[in-house]
Amino acid sequence: MSVTRDNKKIRVLIVDDIQETRENLKKLLYFEDDIEIIGAASNGREGVEQTTALKPDIVLMDINMPGMDGIQASELISQQDPNVQVVMMSVQGEADYLRRSMLAGAREFLIKPFSSEELANSLRRVHQLAVTRRAAAPAPAPVAPPPDAEYVQYVPRKPQVGKIITLFSPKGGVGVSTLAVNLALALREETRARVALVDASLQFGDVGVLLNLPTSRTIADVVQAKGEPDEELMNGVLAAHSSGLKVLVAPPQPEMAELVTHEHLRAILTLFQKMFDYIVVDTGKAINDSLLTVFDLAEQIILVSTGEMSALKDAKLFFEVTQKLEYPPSKTLLILNRYDAKGDVKAKDIEAIIKHPITGIVPRDDKATALALTRGIPVVLTQRGIPFSQAVLAMARMLKREQAPAAAPASANKNNSAAPPAAPDSKPKKRFALFGRG
Ligand SMILES: Nc1ncnc2c1ncn2[C@@H]1O[C@H](COP(=O)(O)OP(=O)(O)OP(=O)(O)O)[C@@H](O)[C@H]1O
Ligand SMILES: [Mg+2]
Repeated sequence: MSVTRDNKKIRVLIVDDIQETRENLKKLLYFEDDIEIIGAASNGREGVEQTTALKPDIVLMDINMPGMDGIQASELISQQDPNVQVVMMSVQGEADYLRRSMLAGAREFLIKPFSSEELANSLRRVHQLAVTRRAAAPAPAPVAPPPDAEYVQYVPRKPQVGKIITLFSPKGGVGVSTLAVNLALALREETRARVALVDASLQFGDVGVLLNLPTSRTIADVVQAKGEPDEELMNGVLAAHSSGLKVLVAPPQPEMAELVTHEHLRAILTLFQKMFDYIVVDTGKAINDSLLTVFDLAEQIILVSTGEMSALKDAKLFFEVTQKLEYPPSKTLLILNRYDAKGDVKAKDIEAIIKHPITGIVPRDDKATALALTRGIPVVLTQRGIPFSQAVLAMARMLKREQAPAAAPASANKNNSAAPPAAPDSKPKKRFALFGRG
């Protein structure tokens, strides 16, 4: 089969065991001038073979297939040719599949059924990311830049560029939002710098509630405004908390989350890097392009887990993913939240299980967190002395130190030296005080 490398056409290989689905996919893409179906395979093995032969830009891969399934096939494809992007297709309710696919190297997931527009947009997005990533492929440099600069052109981060710290958990309800809000406030308190909090938990964001903020202006207003967001627009949309923290609240309705694309998020966050010294980002548990964009831009990803086995299992998977994404080990930190020294597995044992050091432990405090919820005032603001707050404040100090060396004054932000974000040998810092003491 002769295939011309037609300038800008996105060349797609379909892999699905059901002939009708293969035909439907072709029909869905029939009118897309910039997308070309260059082949179709009916199982994973054939898919791998055809990928080698045809070198598509993207493989549109079904998960469930007899013989070699989509996950195995994706793994092989990603290993053989990292330039080939895999877009996985799955049916609803297969959350575990999504995670496994990501581990196998898939770049995007489509939940069946999807429209032709969703499909085409998704293929374009994945292709565009791949092109950008290749363009930004690391040139050898004296100080190895992190190979994570795939969505943006890599510019060595100068100290005056705001530091993006994102908190995430693949498992819901472990306290990501609680810690994000408290950490942002703690950073503000510790640094007196310009701190922003972004609720990128777009569907069910509750940062506005945790801080008792008006939700009349949200991120949805930013994306609905014409043109690129600028400082003026942002100042009109950001909610001002009495602490001095500026907050970009999530859309008021879950369905509005779809309005916010990963491109919007990238534009917002890069603008915030100019407007703020620290940008704390709360995320939802959905693994998608938006999340990956936040991860890529972040200097520090804080994985939040509890000591429960199910959460730890997810945490372990997460670190395997970040390894595949080739993030430097120092970029990902693990925080144990809601830790109960009596009931939970010992921190040392947890480290052994998930093979990642624990950077910090925030103790369980049902009373303080519940009271904070009712009042709409986070714990660090009202009960600074309790172990929960001390642990969060210690976390803030640690994150602050990482950006500006302890010896440097706060005004080091104006300093123009182009220091790399982290020393090449930077190991995760020593665990901060357990329970805020000792
Ligand atoms: N250290 C803690 N001790 C006790 N309770 C906590 C602690 N941290 C968080 N919580 C409680 O756990 C619950 C879940 O917290 P939160 O909403 O922050 O989690 P999340 O990971 O953001 O959840 P979601 O997946 O819904 O976004 C809340 O009731 C919160 O008050
Ligand atoms: Mg949350």
